[in-house]
Amino acid sequence: MTSYSQDELKALVGQAALHYVVPGEIVGVGTGSTVNKFIDALASMKDRIAGAVSSSEASTARLAALGIRVFDANEVESLSVYIDGADEIDGGGHMVKGGGAALTREKIVAAQSRSFVCIADASKRVDVLGRFPLPVEVIPMAAQRIARQFAAQGGEARLRMKDGVPLVTDNGQHILDVQGLQIRDPLGFEMQVSQWPGVVTVGVFACQKANVCLLGTPGGVETIRY
Ligand code: A5P
Repeated sequence: MTSYSQDELKALVGQAALHYVVPGEIVGVGTGSTVNKFIDALASMKDRIAGAVSSSEASTARLAALGIRVFDANEVESLSVYIDGADEIDGGGHMVKGGGAALTREKIVAAQSRSFVCIADASKRVDVLGRFPLPVEVIPMAAQRIARQFAAQGGEARLRMKDGVPLVTDNGQHILDVQGLQIRDPLGFEMQVSQWPGVVTVGVFACQKANVCLLGTPGGVETIRY
């Protein structure tokens, strides 16, 4: 068995994801350090794809710097595949996402894609979602009210800060990170929390769960289908 570093595992799954990119088409691209490896690998086939729809300003900048055309999501009706990382993925392909604060645009691009390929190193695999603090993008004026709603469910919500002030997302909103949850019914949870006034996006991806996970393990890339 080879001993890979976490960074090497991210590069392995990023490279493996190229196999799912459909030549001639536009590919949906997520956000994060694992996706950055995928974007770097995608540069090797940039002349064989039409371009990308991106889920964040950060990914857009990286794609553009490599000469990959970035389309606005409104210009594209549907995508064959969306490739993104995750903060957690369970045995059913449900995920927690948003550690990079891009969850809203990630969910939008995932929703317009026919399949979701999750790329992750083995540390992301969990039995029950909730070990990673759950990111929730909120309208700022609703943050404290939503925090109290989570408290009633046993969760402790904290406003995500950056440089001493609340982090502002690409959409101009704030992020709550909620600790102490055990999300045993991801679909029900996502549907419930999405209804709370002021919630823009909850970081549980159950409606837009993964169809495939390329998991970086000490033995290499494991392909899991859901
Ligand atoms: C970005 O908002 C997230 O959803 C990322 O997909 C997630 O945080 C995984 O990021 P890493 O690949 O950096 O772990």
